[in-house]
Amino acid sequence: MRMVDVISKKRDGQVLSKEEIQFFVTGYTNEQIPDYQASALAMAIFFQGMTAQETADLTLAMVDSGEKIDLSEIAGIKVDKHSTGGVGDTTTLVLAPLVAALGIPVAKMSGRGLGHTGGTIDKLESIAGFHVEVSKEEFITLVNQNQLSVVAQSGNLTPADKKMYALRDVTGTVNSIPMIASSIMSKKIAAGADAIVLDVKVGAGAFMKTKEEAKQLAETMVTIGSKVGRKTVAVLSDMSQPLGNAIGNALEVKEAIDTLKGQGPKDLTELVLTLGSQMVVLSNKADTVEKARVMLQQAIQSGAAIEKFKTFLDNQGGDSSVVDDPTKLPQAAFKIEIPALQNGFVSEIVAHDLGTVAMMLGAGRATKNDVIDLGVGLVLNKKVGDPVAKGESLITVYSNEEKVDAIIHKLYSCFTISEQQNHPTLIHELLL
Ligand code: URA
Ligand code: CA
Repeated sequence: MRMVDVISKKRDGQVLSKEEIQFFVTGYTNEQIPDYQASALAMAIFFQGMTAQETADLTLAMVDSGEKIDLSEIAGIKVDKHSTGGVGDTTTLVLAPLVAALGIPVAKMSGRGLGHTGGTIDKLESIAGFHVEVSKEEFITLVNQNQLSVVAQSGNLTPADKKMYALRDVTGTVNSIPMIASSIMSKKIAAGADAIVLDVKVGAGAFMKTKEEAKQLAETMVTIGSKVGRKTVAVLSDMSQPLGNAIGNALEVKEAIDTLKGQGPKDLTELVLTLGSQMVVLSNKADTVEKARVMLQQAIQSGAAIEKFKTFLDNQGGDSSVVDDPTKLPQAAFKIEIPALQNGFVSEIVAHDLGTVAMMLGAGRATKNDVIDLGVGLVLNKKVGDPVAKGESLITVYSNEEKVDAIIHKLYSCFTISEQQNHPTLIHELLL
């Protein structure tokens, strides 16, 4: 087989066979196929698209390019959750212990943040002593004993995706639905998921800016799931404004603790219950999402969820006393309020730009090797739809520098205040 023929075939809009897709993925991973041929194929896929079968074949070829986590020693159905990425998305920190509190095994591999989005692993590292590097044996033991472990992604999963993603990033081919869908699904499958709940974000702060695009991505992933025997459901959720109130590592841990105690922001709580009830049903612990939701609410009210979180921190070396005293989390030196300049209703909050401001404060990384400042970030005091009076604080800046003049203008540009009140939709659609 010759790579040039595979490229030409896709360029001309024909369907690639499973063997051709495997030939490309294996050859590219082994460095027998050079970047210039891989980029030509990525561009051909970008313009010609892929059928559902090609997309499933690409997914499985990428799964086979590296290590696969075997979770068969963990009893029960392993349901994983994936979010397509957002700003201030604290969902995993709440969802994982909450679902585990119902006896459902959660064996989760998470990533670090890059650019305007944060990562669960960085957030967990704001808890003193917590370790994210855990051996595979210990990972499995922890889940069998406590139903919950969250660790940093191992280095050997889906090397084909790592190479492809880096190449797409510099060749203008990231935004292709079959390539995004296979990239995400390959990582979940390699990490051992039996079933997958996808949180596909829609809006200015997300990859997919419109509901139509997000729905197409979600449908593509649900179809991959059904073709490869992993039951997959997708929730389209809003990311036109940040989720919850906190953006920043320790600030989000505090928000997660509040939410697990039943005192979290309304939107974060609602999204967690929506995603969680799908996970409970996929695990066969409830036969309807309505029953599942009640079980999850009870786990919050009874304290089972926050207890599960404490045990999880203890098990991975973390200081679980932060649950009762969140001031033990890293704190920023300065707290600065940003007052509204007029009366009205908040009608827009640009999530993407707030993520960038949080990164500029030190909460995120501009490049992979940046060291992050765990205590800094932003806390929204007003969300879309809220009334606001001139002089009331829109947002609190947590900074380790006293002067934040450079970001104040940018922060104001993230908020629109209007005379009319509008109410944002949090859950746009469910795809089952
Ligand atoms: N996230 C991924 O994991 N892969 C993509 O291709 C895009 C977003
Ligand atoms: Ca948040």
